[in-house]
Amino acid sequence: MRDVIVAANWKMHTTPSDAGDLASTIAARTRVSGVTRVICPPFVSLAVVRDTLASSDPDVGVGAQTVHHELQGAYTGEIAAPMLVGLASWVIVGHSERRRDAAETDELIGRKLGRAVDAGLRPILCVGERLDEREAGNQADVVERQLAGALAAREPAELLAGGMVIAYEPVWAIGTGRNASGRDAAAMSATIRDVLAGLGWKAAADDVPVLYGGSVTSSNIAEFLAEPSIDGALVGGASLKPDEMAGIVARAGLTAAARTAA
Ligand code: PGA
Repeated sequence: MRDVIVAANWKMHTTPSDAGDLASTIAARTRVSGVTRVICPPFVSLAVVRDTLASSDPDVGVGAQTVHHELQGAYTGEIAAPMLVGLASWVIVGHSERRRDAAETDELIGRKLGRAVDAGLRPILCVGERLDEREAGNQADVVERQLAGALAAREPAELLAGGMVIAYEPVWAIGTGRNASGRDAAAMSATIRDVLAGLGWKAAADDVPVLYGGSVTSSNIAEFLAEPSIDGALVGGASLKPDEMAGIVARAGLTAAARTAA
C-alpha cells in the first residue's frame, strides 16, 4: 500500500519572519490520519519551519526546493545536500521552473537525486511535458526521456530505499489555473510506472508514490485522488493558503482511510 502524500511547494514566497507561523497554522489545520505532509519553504526559512514544527507538529516533514549536484566547492550561492542534513528530510528535484530558469538537464537532475539519497533526503523527482509537447502528442515520450535521464546513474534499489517519490507536473498546468484532468494524470502515472519497470525497477515500480502537481486546489483534488494510481499532490500556489491546504489534506485523508480499509 503506497503512502498518500501532500507536499507544499512554497517556491519564492514567505520570509523567515512569517514562515514559521504559516507552517504551524497549516500543520494545525491538516492533522489528518494517514496522510504524509511535507512543507518545502525557501532555504532561508528551513530552520524556522523546522523549529516551529518540531514543537507544534513533528509529523510534518520539512523539505528543500532543490539541492546542488556537487558535495562542495566553488559554487557561489548554492546549497549542497550535506548542508541540508538536520534542516530538511525531503527535497524537490528537477522542478520545471528550475529546468527552465537554471537550465537543469536530466543528467544533472540525476546527480542531484543521488546526492539527495546519499544524504538521507527523500527526493521528490518532478517530471512533465510542456504545452507544445502535449499538443504534439509527445507527453509520454518526454516523461520517459526525463525519467531515463534522471534515473540512469543510480540503482533502482538505492532510489527505492531512499524513498523516492515522483511528481507528474505538466508544465502548462503549473501556476496557470488550468489543471490536467484526473484521467490524463492517471494515464501518465501508469506510463511512469511502465517506464520504471522497463528501467529495471520491475515489480518495485508499483511501490513508488506518484503525485500530481499543477494548479491543485481543494476544489479539484478529489478528481486526482479518485484515481488509484495517484498517491497525492505537489501543491504550489494553494499551499500558501491554510484553508486550501485543510481541504486538500482532508480529501487525501479519505483516500488514505480507504486504502487502509481495502
Ligand atoms: P501550482 O504549482 O500548484 O501553483 O500550479 C505546483 C508546483 O509547481 O509544484
